[in-house]
Amino acid sequence: MSRIAHPGLAAKVTTAEHAASFIADGMTVGMSGFTGSGYPKAVPTALAAQIEAEHAAGKPMRLKVWTGASTGPELDGALARVDGISARLPYNSDPIAREKINAGTMDYVDLHLSQVAPLAWEGFLGALDVAVVEVAGIRADGSLIPSTSVGNNKTWLDVAKRVILEVNSWQNPALEGMHDIYYGTALPPNRVPIPLAAPDQRIGQPTLRCDPHKVIAVVETNAPDRNLPFAAPDASAVAIAQHLIEFFRHEVGKGRLPPSLLPLQSGVGNIANAVLAGLLTAPFENLTAYTEVLQDGMLDLLAAGKLRMASCTAFSLSPAAAERLNQDLDRFRDRILLRSQEISNHPEVVRRLGCLAMNGMIEADLYGNVNSTHVMGSRIQNGIGGSGDFARNAYISIFLSPSTAKGGTISAIVPHVSHVDHIAQDVQIVVTEQGLADLRGLAPRKRAEQVIERCAHPSFRPMLRDYYERARAGSYGQQTPMLPGEALAWHQRFLDTGSML
Ligand code: COA
Repeated sequence: MSRIAHPGLAAKVTTAEHAASFIADGMTVGMSGFTGSGYPKAVPTALAAQIEAEHAAGKPMRLKVWTGASTGPELDGALARVDGISARLPYNSDPIAREKINAGTMDYVDLHLSQVAPLAWEGFLGALDVAVVEVAGIRADGSLIPSTSVGNNKTWLDVAKRVILEVNSWQNPALEGMHDIYYGTALPPNRVPIPLAAPDQRIGQPTLRCDPHKVIAVVETNAPDRNLPFAAPDASAVAIAQHLIEFFRHEVGKGRLPPSLLPLQSGVGNIANAVLAGLLTAPFENLTAYTEVLQDGMLDLLAAGKLRMASCTAFSLSPAAAERLNQDLDRFRDRILLRSQEISNHPEVVRRLGCLAMNGMIEADLYGNVNSTHVMGSRIQNGIGGSGDFARNAYISIFLSPSTAKGGTISAIVPHVSHVDHIAQDVQIVVTEQGLADLRGLAPRKRAEQVIERCAHPSFRPMLRDYYERARAGSYGQQTPMLPGEALAWHQRFLDTGSML
């Protein structure tokens, strides 16, 4: 049965190649997609072929590409491979695009994910020529049933001059009704409070609005989402999870957290997923999540009945977990809500709900400044994503990482981070497999002692102590002792010799 119930839009069904031909050199294209979910699959592939043909004919063709966050290989990978992206925002984890960004041939604007939609409405990002949005179906009234991610789709559909829709029949029809699309946002001075006071509260409507007159093409697809599998938690990830769960037990015991904790936010990456796996056997029931992505660990918590419900903007599930959810969606559909990313990550809501923010990091320094994005200060890994939205506004802001990287040659605890994403004031808890440093309410010198003694790897601890003692003796000021030249020399030593040791 056709997923397109609106006759006017059914009449616009065409091929991906024809739809892609509406997109020309220099245009800005807003695509759906958040992690490997809900991104358009056919038009970007056709667009990549078109770009390749243009380049072969000696003609320029490069696009500015906006999305919700990272996407799948058919979008970022395909377009980056043919050198078709001149600028990209707001998040990337595609390896080919990463190489181009780090080679300096692709501009990358790394943004807080909650701020992308407001920036687009404000006009600060320039005009959006075309939106290419995957949906699960089109209703008779022309409203759109969102797919497995919402991201910035509401905004792209509203602000784009023209719209191309991909209707993906691989997506489960039972997705209808699982979304909550809020149309009450406005720009200052007309902005009003977001009326959301609990993770399971609905404040919007189940569908996306779209002016049918703006739609220039509809493409029918039947293609799976593509997320990478998570690594099975290793000993280090399990230890990090245990330290964190022990900390939650302690906080419940002290009466600083309720027995069902507070809404969980769990970041991207294997460590964050391992923490969720740890919660499966932890003594907390009736949990909730107010988060950006729903990954495998959260699905397991939902299935086990540990997690009462989860609010997110996207599924970020391994192929096996996506298949499991798809098979069994009826069981989960009343316990999962998908929202636009400006709401899932909204600072006002995160602060009101009191989220427990748990995010991965590249490195932390003695004072608790955190680098989530840049290896050795200059080479981007992914981007800040939603970590800043949550960290600054959380009830408790937690950063997690193994204490070393690259086979033990790099310390994730350093005298000074090589790039700052989260300032010390936004970082309350740092956890490695070595232990947990609770930095709440501590002055910088006390923070340094905690971070070195609790979180650093034993092979780096003496070096950190030695550095810190000399900074205590000889630094210009003693509020935040630092020897500037020596602090960053740790990173230079790695670049020169392949090891910080
Ligand atoms: N120095 C150098 N490289 C480091 C490093 C360090 N201190 N720490 C990690 N890395 C490298 C790893 O070696 C790995 O590289 P590889 O792919 O070449 O092997 C890569 O960074 C990813 O690290 P990994 O150990 O697999 O961690 P992860 O999957 O838990 O991801 C982040 C960690 C920081 C990259 C990830 O959490 C991230 O992108 N965070 C920013 C966005 C965010 O927090 N979003 C959540 C908001 S909802």
